[in-house]
Parts: sequence; structure tokens; C-alpha cells
Amino acid sequence: MPCLVVVGGVFGDEGKGKIISHIALRYHPEIAVRGGVGPNAGHTVVTNDKILKLRMLPCAVVNKSTRLMIGAGVLVDPRILMKEVSETNSQDRTTVDRNCAIIEEKHVEADRTGHLKEKIGTTGTGTGPANSDRVLRVGKIAQDEQILRDYIGDVSLETNEALDQKKFVLLEGTQGTMLSLYHGTYPYVTSKDVSASAICSDVGIGPKRVDEVIVVFKAYLTRVGAGPLDGELDLSETMQRGWQEFGSVTGRLRRAAPFDYELAKRSIMLNSGTQIALTKLDTVFPSCAGAKEYSKLPLEARHFVEEIEGRVGCPVSYIGTGAEAEDIIDRT
Ligand code: IMP
Ligand code: MG
Repeated sequence: MPCLVVVGGVFGDEGKGKIISHIALRYHPEIAVRGGVGPNAGHTVVTNDKILKLRMLPCAVVNKSTRLMIGAGVLVDPRILMKEVSETNSQDRTTVDRNCAIIEEKHVEADRTGHLKEKIGTTGTGTGPANSDRVLRVGKIAQDEQILRDYIGDVSLETNEALDQKKFVLLEGTQGTMLSLYHGTYPYVTSKDVSASAICSDVGIGPKRVDEVIVVFKAYLTRVGAGPLDGELDLSETMQRGWQEFGSVTGRLRRAAPFDYELAKRSIMLNSGTQIALTKLDTVFPSCAGAKEYSKLPLEARHFVEEIEGRVGCPVSYIGTGAEAEDIIDRT
């Protein structure tokens, strides 16, 4: 049973939630651990017409037998987490690492004013200021937070023990590689590294533990907030192509551009990606909608997939053809 890491390829909102929910429902991980920044992420999962928007819990919540954990590197907003735990009725299978740092009201306030709001265009969820306090070592941690007392545990130990027992462990990244504080488009980035190595570090497993790194790309690019976006389309062109999307956390209209092969290649390099998951192929090629077999795709869609494999140098293992977890071509 493998250890699998899923990360965002570019600017976030690639559809990680969809890919993770498919993997969780089909391959039943023992444990899913959330890495990444915190509730600035919004992952959308659709199963049986039911839409779930997750900002704290792992998207593998859709598979009822999976234990759900939050790695020490992640920032926890206790109110958002508790709401998701109760909405998904996952009280009995949720564990928060005792060392997770806590987002407080003052962090949210600081994230909604001044330079973070005006220049960077952050999500306003308090993650940057909370990470800043964490670095200054003045922040509060999960084991001191009363509301979380029933959920506190040692996530790195439990994850490493599960791997020792050859259990299937899924590590869920957030944001996208080009929003990494180190490797992204600084200063228009999030407040941490979010590449595959960082996700492992968030959880507390070493690099030799990982078997597969799935990098998720959407069939076109979107970006919310400020920062460069090569080939950016104007609004009318975006609408004409049907690529308009709204941020799931912020509600902001996302900027859009065509797929960028060079950026994708660099992302595979930074993550040592072993597989690509390509989402929303049906938005670019509508006749792909709902397809579950590669051979059923129209020729131009297959050409696009093969062009990506050739130019980026990595196999496309999953292809999203609709919003539901089941709308997928699984080539693994
Ligand atoms: P912050 O992470 O809220 O500090 O925002 C920094 C930048 O990253 C802004 O451009 C945000 O729009 C972007 N960002 C952060 N999280 C996400 C995400 O989950 N999806 C898309 N963009 C994100
Ligand atoms: Mg999102």
C-alpha cells in the first residue's frame, strides 16, 4: 500500500478536492492527513449531487472508513474545523496534531487590512498573520485550545506507524506550487512553502516514505488575488470560453489564462511529481463531459493530454470530466 501525496500544480483551485475524493472512494485510505497552510484553502467535493466545501478537514472525509488528521504544520481555525466536523459527523475519526498553531480573531482582522489586503490580495482568513506569530513564537497551539481537547493527538507518530504497517496513507496538500513562499511568484504568494516536500514536513514524515506524488493541474489556469499570470485573458474572452470561476473561500472572480506548459514542467520538477491529475477537461472540450474511458475522448482532447505528457514529461494518470467524484478517467 502506497504513501501518496497530492499537491496543487500552479495557483491553487486546480480541483484537488475532486481528485482526492475519487482516490478516497475508490482506494479507501486508512489515514488522510491534511498538510498545507490552513483555512485559506477551499476544496470542493461533489458526491451524489451533494456539494461539500472543506477548508480544514481532509477531502477524504467522503470515505467513511478513513481516519482524518491535520498535520502539525497546518494552522487551525477552531470554529471552522468544529463546524466541518459536525456537518460531516466525523467526531469519531478526527485528530488534530497538538502542535498545530491556532488562528485567532486578531489574525483574521490583520489579514483584512493594509498591505495584505490591498497589495497581495490575500484570502483574509488570518493565515499570514498567524504564521507570522508562529515564527515569532508568540502564537497559541492546538493543545492549549479548549474547544479542540477531544481531538488532540500525535499525528506524525500515528502516520509513521500506519506506514510501518503498510497501510495506505494519503497526504493532502493545499494551495498551489506557484503560491509557495519559496518557489512561487513572491511577494504574491501564500505564507509558507506548499510543495510536496513541505506537505511531508507539515505531517511529519521523511522524504523516503513517499511512493507517489500526484500534481493536480486544471486544463486552464486561474488565479485569485494579485500577481503575474502569463497569457491572462480579458473578461469577455474568459466568459466566451466558459472559464469564469469564483473563489470558494473569497467569492472573488478568478483571473484566467490558457494552460502553461513551462510552468507545469517547473511544478513537476519542484514536487518531483510522478503523476499528473488533469481536471476540468470537459470545460475546455465539452464533449468530454462525464467520460470514464480515455478511448472515448475526442481526438483533440487526447492530443491535448498527450501534448502535456510530452512537454511536461510526466504521465497523466487521472482526467477529470465533470464535478462529481465519479466523473473521472482513472488510468492507474
Ligand atoms: P493568503 O494565503 O490568504 O495569505 O493569500 C496569499 C495569496 O494566495 C493570494 O493571492 C490568495 O488569493 C492566494 N491563495 C491562498 N490560498 C489559496 C487557495 O486555496 N486557492 C487559490 N488561491 C489561494
Ligand atoms: Mg480552492
